[in-house]
Amino acid sequence: MIRHFLRDDDLTPAEQSAVLDLAEQIKTDRFARRPLAGPRAVAVLFDKPSLRTRVSFETGIAELGGHPIIVDTQTTHFGRGESLVDAGQVLSRYVSAIVMRTHGDDRLAQVAAGSGVPVVNALTDGFHPCQLLADLLTIRERCGGTAGRSLAYVGDAANNMANSYLLAGVTAGMHVRVAGPPGYDPSPAVVNRAEEIAAWTGGSVQVLRDPAEAVDGVDVVATDTWTSMGQEGDGRDRLTPFWPYQVNKSMLALAAPTAIVLHCLPAHRGEEITDEVLDGGQSAVFDQAENRLHAQKALLTWLLSTGRPESAQAPG
Ligand code: CP
Ligand code: NVA
Repeated sequence: MIRHFLRDDDLTPAEQSAVLDLAEQIKTDRFARRPLAGPRAVAVLFDKPSLRTRVSFETGIAELGGHPIIVDTQTTHFGRGESLVDAGQVLSRYVSAIVMRTHGDDRLAQVAAGSGVPVVNALTDGFHPCQLLADLLTIRERCGGTAGRSLAYVGDAANNMANSYLLAGVTAGMHVRVAGPPGYDPSPAVVNRAEEIAAWTGGSVQVLRDPAEAVDGVDVVATDTWTSMGQEGDGRDRLTPFWPYQVNKSMLALAAPTAIVLHCLPAHRGEEITDEVLDGGQSAVFDQAENRLHAQKALLTWLLSTGRPESAQAPG
């Protein structure tokens, strides 16, 4: 069976844990595993800009023995109306997996509908699930595990990172609080799904307005840009309502004394997070960025072994 990773909840709690276990192993023996040797090719498609995602996938696929093909879709027929279902069908005749960053989740779903190989979400308007694998790996390293730990995401609680923190966080058994200004709450569908998963894993979900209530005593404080890719010209005031949600020294003082700070980057320093916090002793942001590499290598290894006869063997 082909497994796609389009949203955080495409992995069950046990599967997410297995991918993170593998990521920990891969991080310790970085160049020892070459499950894509051949090399098997992986297409990595970008409808939006990227630094970390592009370079971590390209590096990771090469380290796994595979051949990364990075495609800026502006140079393809995607912008000229080629069917995304057709594109999925065609690409899967060439490559062993398709990784795609795009706008609407419907675009990714169309590629997956045509594809005969795993499709991975490298960020959509709705979700950023590869980022969350890296974040959870970082929380495991810094907090000794994920189950029972608390995380507050403050800022634009309607964006892809908020949605992914809700779904992936509760899948990992975490207590997830999100807080944003009026008009920037997560969709009820995502909150309901997160609550459903939390009831199964022992995690919990709280959607709050007050940032101080959200960060009170938490183990992890997370934020993201107030203006996501594609929102630059949407005519909304993406500064004024957000200032109370800035992650600064006084907000961080409300979290647990041992709390860590996460930000997926790129940061708008001085807006959603101050230099003092981003560069401070509680910041885990650069480990978090590094962990994209290890987590995505584990994900690709897992997806390309699942359902195949050799999946009974240890991946790699
Ligand atoms: N965090 C993240 O996805 O960064 P890029 O947009 O640079 O890939
Ligand atoms: N919410 C941000 C994340 C960037 C990695 C965006 O979509 O632009």
